[in-house]
Amino acid sequence: MAERVLVIGSGGREHALAWKLAQSPHVQQVLVAPGNAGTANSGKISNSAVSVNNHSILAQYCKDHNVGLVVVGPEVPLAAGIVDDLTAAGVTCFGPSAKAAQLEASKSFSKSFMDRHNIPTARWSSFTDPQDACKYIQDAEFPALVVKASGLAAGKGVVVARDKDEALKAVLDIMKDKAFGSAGETVVVEEQLEGEEVSCLCFSDGITVSPMPPAQDHKRLLDGDQGPNTGGMGAYCPTPQVSEEVLQEIKRSVLQKTVDGMREEGTPYMGVLYAGVMLTKQGPKVLEFNCRFGDPECQVRSFTSLLS
Ligand code: AMP
Ligand code: GLY
Repeated sequence: MAERVLVIGSGGREHALAWKLAQSPHVQQVLVAPGNAGTANSGKISNSAVSVNNHSILAQYCKDHNVGLVVVGPEVPLAAGIVDDLTAAGVTCFGPSAKAAQLEASKSFSKSFMDRHNIPTARWSSFTDPQDACKYIQDAEFPALVVKASGLAAGKGVVVARDKDEALKAVLDIMKDKAFGSAGETVVVEEQLEGEEVSCLCFSDGITVSPMPPAQDHKRLLDGDQGPNTGGMGAYCPTPQVSEEVLQEIKRSVLQKTVDGMREEGTPYMGVLYAGVMLTKQGPKVLEFNCRFGDPECQVRSFTSLLS
């Protein structure tokens, strides 16, 4: 029987997900909460005003409206446990649990996880005291550093510093002036990596991984990459930067190892796992994990799958 699907979110990513889901003969209607102008009344797709923050109201809404599947776009509801709460209420939901979403929601968690499982990443340390972070920066043997708010900051909580002074200023902005609020109570300071950055995503059922074609997105504001990082302002897919051989290496040494590690630690990872990877001279190294489709990578993937 054809299903009614509810997509959570309001961006271009959610429009792409709704657009693609609506093409399935198994899908009768796609609701998007809260949605945007593009998802309002377009064929099988329409917006829903249901509250996505109150999970028990949302679960009841899904039951009342015969929603057979909920697909969660953004990281904030995932980290807030939307999948745990809807699943417990008997509503089928696509996305990781709150514990599994820690891979994105806490950079200090994800860096420790990568160390525990020998997943290649930049050398790092994390701090809750700004003085300790500043001392680490002053003593660091690698001159180029990156300072990151550990919590969720919509892709903007990372300062790729030109020198140690800029790194020290970033620590004060994040920890003392609270530029990213409570997301900056812990900071991660890490070695700056050089190379091409690629977005490698896969689907996972908690055991196996099925990679999507790799993409690249455009991160830094202003011409010539002179501005601060954004969440991503444009993308293309597939990227010629990742050969089939490199993709297999990333699948083995990053994606599969992560899914295996999460399962071994009792927090199986189900949903889309997104590894931001730097292709360094020493091989692929993970910059970050996201617990969802990328925005705008999802939009170009929908078109890629349509064309192929
Ligand atoms: P993150 O949220 O950790 O991925 O960081 C946001 C962006 O900052 C990444 O997509 C990269 O463009 C950049 N970045 C993060 N970590 C590093 C690093 N260690 N070296 C160089 N660039 C980085
Ligand atoms: N485009 C990067 C992200 O979705 O985090």
